[in-house]
Amino acid sequence: MAKIINEPAHTFNEYLLIPSYSDEKNIPSNVSLVTPVTRFKKGEEPKITMNIPMTSAIMQSVSGDTLAIALAKEGGISFIFGAQSIENEARMVKNVKTYKAGFVPSDSNLKATSTLEDVVNLKTKTGHSTIAVTSDGTSNGKLVGLITSRDYRIDKMKLSTPVKSFMTPANKLVVGHDGISLSKANDIIWEHKINQLPVLDKAGRLKYLIFRKDYDEHKKNPNENLDAHKRYIVGAGINTRDYEERVPALVKAGVDILCIDSSEGFTEYQKKTLQWIKKHYPKIPVGAGNVVDGDGFRFLADAGADFVKIGIGGGSICITRETKGIGRGQATAVIEVAKARDAYYKKTGIYIPICSDGGIVLDHHITLALAMGADFVMLGRYFARFDESPSSKVNINGTFYKEYWGEGSARARNWQRYDLGGEATLKFEEGVDSYVPYAGALKDNVRRTLEKVKSTMCNCGALTIKELQKKATLTLVSATAIVEGGAHDVIQKNKTDYK
Ligand code: IMP
Repeated sequence: MAKIINEPAHTFNEYLLIPSYSDEKNIPSNVSLVTPVTRFKKGEEPKITMNIPMTSAIMQSVSGDTLAIALAKEGGISFIFGAQSIENEARMVKNVKTYKAGFVPSDSNLKATSTLEDVVNLKTKTGHSTIAVTSDGTSNGKLVGLITSRDYRIDKMKLSTPVKSFMTPANKLVVGHDGISLSKANDIIWEHKINQLPVLDKAGRLKYLIFRKDYDEHKKNPNENLDAHKRYIVGAGINTRDYEERVPALVKAGVDILCIDSSEGFTEYQKKTLQWIKKHYPKIPVGAGNVVDGDGFRFLADAGADFVKIGIGGGSICITRETKGIGRGQATAVIEVAKARDAYYKKTGIYIPICSDGGIVLDHHITLALAMGADFVMLGRYFARFDESPSSKVNINGTFYKEYWGEGSARARNWQRYDLGGEATLKFEEGVDSYVPYAGALKDNVRRTLEKVKSTMCNCGALTIKELQKKATLTLVSATAIVEGGAHDVIQKNKTDYK
């Protein structure tokens, strides 16, 4: 007879935290959100940690290279989507790894024979007022000169004026040489009262521009998640079919961590994929999933997973539960897997971080997931709303939205994530195509979200995630208590979005 669990599986919305004693040290600025990402033995340190407990979902509409850089700046990790060609995915990984905070490849370039009209057109196109003049008009040509908005007056000059007559020629420019540190470059910028410093290689070719404002900006990112060479840490999604080709390309591009992306991870496919990677690339950590119970966790832990991802059917764009009838309420899934993780640690001395993936709607759901035992969370809808996500921003009846579609939707065509080898003509969708309200810059949103998380942690008397997990008291709430939790019995004047 089938095993039947009669207790209902719960979602985050059905729980609240009961505050406990907090002393004067319990203020948000004292809270550390540092969290392990990869397995480690008792007494040892994990190979990869994050400064904030947030990763972005392995989705076409979420994790491209631009978002990966923005999230790494804030201290988290993006997993670049795997449902694209190996070359494209590797290129995105490489873009993140070669991105040097403050070192910007010049995106506005002209030749000495170009005219003021070209300058005006280029400025309109890129929105940037600093233009490099190079021998061949490319971002890596020999530097011939530099143009800033202080070099010309459109109302007084003919549009046909050649740029060489008003640019600052290379021999009059202060320049830096390849290998210069950002702080040294900044010293030069201040010493010479300039706004930007071109960095050249030995042959005089342009490599980067360093801007005064970017340095200041960089200093405002105290949580940056960097590798030993001060490059941003980035992850990438892989599937259980083409890993023998995809993994080598991603490793070559510099990927720090991989994650098998699948709607259901308790499978022989995942075990084989993990074993292959462990044999050929033992130094590259790899996460696996998704699972929703202790059996699934133990299977992946024994197979070598460096972290295990939890969640089936809870994603905002997900219809897996409706189409296939598999899944589990996300809160219960996290609680059950966390129990198995702790028991595994006790038995083996190996700690395997767990990630709660999908179903985070309100910011405080992150705090609940952490309190229930998750080491970090993965979010799709949340990040899809920001400027940095790869999807289009659209205006519908005067309101801006971003597009957000599931990996199991017909739009994504990511059949490998779900494929069990069925008939090609009988494929069905497990996700939908949707819009989410546009929410601006990642940085502003992530910082506000985490301020809330830290504030709740203080209410629970916790200054670290581990402390929260030890001290937290969680209570189930009734349906009427949920109603009581929102504004009620008043006529609200300006309804704000509390998310
Ligand atoms: P969200 O943060 O609630 O939007 O959930 C994002 C998570 O949903 C992802 O990290 C995936 O685990 C999962 N997911 C992505 N696409 C699909 C889909 O099409 N069907 C089911 N689950 C999906």
